[in-house]
Amino acid sequence: MKLFIVIFTVLIPTIYCLSDQEEWQQFKTQHGKSYRSLLEEKRRFDIFKSNLRMIDEHNQRFNNGDETFRMKINQFGDLSDEEFRQMLSLQKDQIPNSGDNLALLDDNVDIPKEVDWRAKGAVTAVGNQVYCGGCWAFSAVGAIEAQVFLKNGTLEPLSAQNLLDCAKGEYHNLGCRGGLMVNAFNYTRDHGVLTEKEYPFKSDSGKDKECKKQGGVKISGYKEILAGDEQALAKAVALIGPISVGVDSSQLKYYDVGVITKSHCKSERRYLNHAALVVGYTEDYWIVKNSWGKYWGENGYFRLTRNDGNTCGVATVASYPTLD
Ligand SMILES: *[C@@H]1O[C@H](CO)[C@@H](O)[C@H](O)[C@H]1NC(C)=O
Ligand SMILES: *[C@@H]1O[C@H](CO)[C@@H](O)[C@H](O)[C@H]1NC(C)=O
Repeated sequence: MKLFIVIFTVLIPTIYCLSDQEEWQQFKTQHGKSYRSLLEEKRRFDIFKSNLRMIDEHNQRFNNGDETFRMKINQFGDLSDEEFRQMLSLQKDQIPNSGDNLALLDDNVDIPKEVDWRAKGAVTAVGNQVYCGGCWAFSAVGAIEAQVFLKNGTLEPLSAQNLLDCAKGEYHNLGCRGGLMVNAFNYTRDHGVLTEKEYPFKSDSGKDKECKKQGGVKISGYKEILAGDEQALAKAVALIGPISVGVDSSQLKYYDVGVITKSHCKSERRYLNHAALVVGYTEDYWIVKNSWGKYWGENGYFRLTRNDGNTCGVATVASYPTLD
């Protein structure tokens, strides 16, 4: 017995170290990471290791049936909490939807049990905001792309960069440092939004850029979903199209597959720090498009429980653009 314990205490740490090193090498290659100095690399490796431990523990619980989603190390594996927070950029100044701009959706209409706008060809490929806090711009163009498709029959990726660079000033957004979809919609109503081809994504460094040109597709305005009303959100998704939403992203960083439940996150406005696009639902969950690349989560998407008490605030600041 004594020998057994000795062998274990000596071997286990060594084995762990080896596999951490291997995972680290693999991580660096896969995500093209390089560091300025050995000191910097050591700091990053320490962050990476503590993330691996946390993810292992979570997945252990997942395997035991105590968690509803699995985690995986990804491009964020070497970021500090502070660095990750900078990518979360839904501004705080929008109050929960309750005003006179609410969507008026017919109460007597039956909606399908399941909706998935991807299957109808209304959703473009998953974008990647990289180090720019531009979730709000990706969410906004996703919603506009679908409305243009439904009206015109053509699906054309629109430019998040155009909104990041130009929807500032009187439109209150702060480029890569944050914004709101409703502000992006007002900008698009007044100035239009160009296509991704005309105005490609450049803010991968997280640095702000100058507004280069304006124009493109215009919308007539936007509508909001009554805060917290998941029925109204479902109706809007079914009858209107993909809907822009804010979420509390506290469980999303290393999300891999599964459904995030209410117990994992908060739904009040002050906790919402990220924006995404609801593209469909089933009876049990919302299907949400993220902007962290197609290798993140479920091919770039995640799922939140539906009718579970406004999971992660999915229905707190939901809105969509209107086209005449
Ligand atoms: C609408 O469709 C036409 C042709 O089908 C296309 O040329 C045009 O670019 C589309 N408009 C938008 C805003 O996508
Ligand atoms: C958008 O524009 C409308 C009309 O000009 C205005 O009432 C509304 O407050 C604007 N929305 C935001 C979020 O500023």
